[in-house]
Amino acid sequence: MKKVISVVGARPNFMKVAPLHRAFAQYSAQCVHQICHTGQHYDAAMSDAFFNDLDMPEPTYFLGIGSGSHAEQTARVMVEFEKVCLEAKPDLVIVVGDVNSTIACTLTASKLHIKTAHVEAGLRSYDRTMPEEINRIATDAISDYCFITEQSGLDNLQHDGFNPNNMFFVGNTMIDSLHYALPKAEQSGILAELGLQPRGYVLMTIHRPSNVDDREQLEMLLRIFRDLSQERDIVFPVHPRTRKNIAAHGLQHLVDESPRLHLIEPQGYVNFLALMKNADFVMTDSGGIQEETTALGVPCITLRTTTERPITCTLGTNVLIQPNESAIRAAIHTAIHNPRKQGTVPPLWDGNAAQRITDIIVNKILV
Ligand code: UD1
Repeated sequence: MKKVISVVGARPNFMKVAPLHRAFAQYSAQCVHQICHTGQHYDAAMSDAFFNDLDMPEPTYFLGIGSGSHAEQTARVMVEFEKVCLEAKPDLVIVVGDVNSTIACTLTASKLHIKTAHVEAGLRSYDRTMPEEINRIATDAISDYCFITEQSGLDNLQHDGFNPNNMFFVGNTMIDSLHYALPKAEQSGILAELGLQPRGYVLMTIHRPSNVDDREQLEMLLRIFRDLSQERDIVFPVHPRTRKNIAAHGLQHLVDESPRLHLIEPQGYVNFLALMKNADFVMTDSGGIQEETTALGVPCITLRTTTERPITCTLGTNVLIQPNESAIRAAIHTAIHNPRKQGTVPPLWDGNAAQRITDIIVNKILV
């Protein structure tokens, strides 16, 4: 019996692994699939809610790493994940996305000569000030197998000289989760709870260090939100990093001056999906939300200078906006007054990516 361990650590990982776990179930005669949660994210709202919403089982391994500097967090994951690998002796470790847990576990497994597969490989923002870009480059460089969500990922890995026999363009497991959870999202009571109508509000998320760690930048964003909230409801589920910085930088008054700003706790997957699907438009600096809004056909304004997910702009409903005051105000004006940006769903974002990945793993990689 072969053994595969998939690693999750932070919020954006859970929806990428949940469909893999379900797809592996059909191969239970050939291999056992286990989940290792590093505990990079640990709040109930940042972690447990996703396990419930995505019907994921309790992880087999929980490392309880928590927060810290990049070096501390990455190092702690490595130390603890090494113990898991030595005890469990997996035949393959699957890592997803680009968070610190992703690179930490890839490094650990590959130095123990355990095969590794990176799901969502090949994406590049070409901005090395983003910690995720370092994680993406390093993870791809040492992974044995790469599973790819969009054409740019294929192009980037080809450019880097990755073995073409070991890279597979399979689509997007995050969109598998979206398909899976949409019926549940239809039942969500979150709009009613907040007193909102479909298409009657703007959904906002910001948590990137480049937008929320610097006082001036965060203040500028909150001023724009305050002004927009004079005429529009804004739903703003606040990441713990953003909440801490609003307080630390003394900016709570801007929130208090925003009449129709709903500052709420980070939402679970199902409620957040309901909020995305019904938003007039979304403003974000997230990676995954760019893809989810494209899959849902909802316009997205991304407050970043680069994206590692260019297909969301070329085919999808996403636009990149320089995160400065005049550009953001102009983009909001356009979103409110012009027709919605129309998009198409990228190739293979059809809800079956995890099926393709597990077929390849069981029939080609583990044999
Ligand atoms: C991480 C990922 C980022 C992803 C984001 C999604 C890295 C380098 N970054 O960023 O790519 O977009 O997750 O949320 O891995 N905190 C809590 N409770 C939690 C988790 C975090 O309070 O459950 C606070 C802590 O103060 C922590 C801070 O948030 O110091 C940042 O957490 P961390 O995991 O370091 O990075 P994120 O900003 O969440």
